[in-house]
Amino acid sequence: MDTKIISCAGEKGGCGKTTMNIILATNLSKSYGKKVVLIDMDDPQYSVFKKRERDLQRVSLGKRDDLELYPVVRSNVGTLDQWIRKYYGIVDYIIIDFPGNLNEEMVQGLLYIEHLFIPFFLDELEIDSTAMFYKTLEANFLNNEDRVLRSLNPFFNRYELVKANKFKAVRNTFERAGMPIMEEVVMDRTVYRERYRNTLYPIPEGKENSEMGIKKFIERVLKISKG
Ligand SMILES: Nc1ncnc2c1ncn2[C@@H]1O[C@H](COP(=O)(O)OP(=O)(O)O)[C@@H](O)[C@H]1O
Ligand SMILES: [Mg+2]
Repeated sequence: MDTKIISCAGEKGGCGKTTMNIILATNLSKSYGKKVVLIDMDDPQYSVFKKRERDLQRVSLGKRDDLELYPVVRSNVGTLDQWIRKYYGIVDYIIIDFPGNLNEEMVQGLLYIEHLFIPFFLDELEIDSTAMFYKTLEANFLNNEDRVLRSLNPFFNRYELVKANKFKAVRNTFERAGMPIMEEVVMDRTVYRERYRNTLYPIPEGKENSEMGIKKFIERVLKISKG
């Protein structure tokens, strides 16, 4: 199996990395039929792992066995290599959720990622740090001959139509600086933080099919990672 290693990551906390990694993992697995493993590197909080436990507690015992769940595993930088070896070649997607603060040690983990999606929550301060993060990765990984990193994809998370002009201005600035932002956006919506941020159940069929729906984003991720 041609395994892809992907992650929504960035060096800022609170921009939606965990939310998007969960939504991607659950929907790639449940709606697109992919074999997925989600690696939670958020040591020691392990927010994804705990979310899986909470999600499971809402399901009655008898029904848990029928769920066909993708694994959520806890890892730190030291054990990441073992987990990747364990699943490489037997799943379609290894998705890694990194913690909010990427210290130097954690950056080692980024070396495994093939397609990186950088959520970008519009706010003055983050423009600089996202640009810095992008440029550092581009210089160190993307331009390297034996690179693993094959694509670097910033995207707008928590997009708001009322701020369309602001987003557009940022998009143009990034474009001019050689950092194209994905056309697909993820809207700022309560369902993404509540109902759809679920490690068991995908977004119901028939939902999210509009131009601004999150399925456009998920399908774009599929396309990009297919190479
Ligand atoms: N598209 C979205 N719409 C609404 N709320 C969101 C969205 N993305 C993230 N959030 C919320 O923003 C907060 C931070 O998200 P989280 O995924 O935990 O970020 P990170 O992992 O980058 O620290 C959470 O409360 C989450 O539910
Ligand atoms: Mg997180």
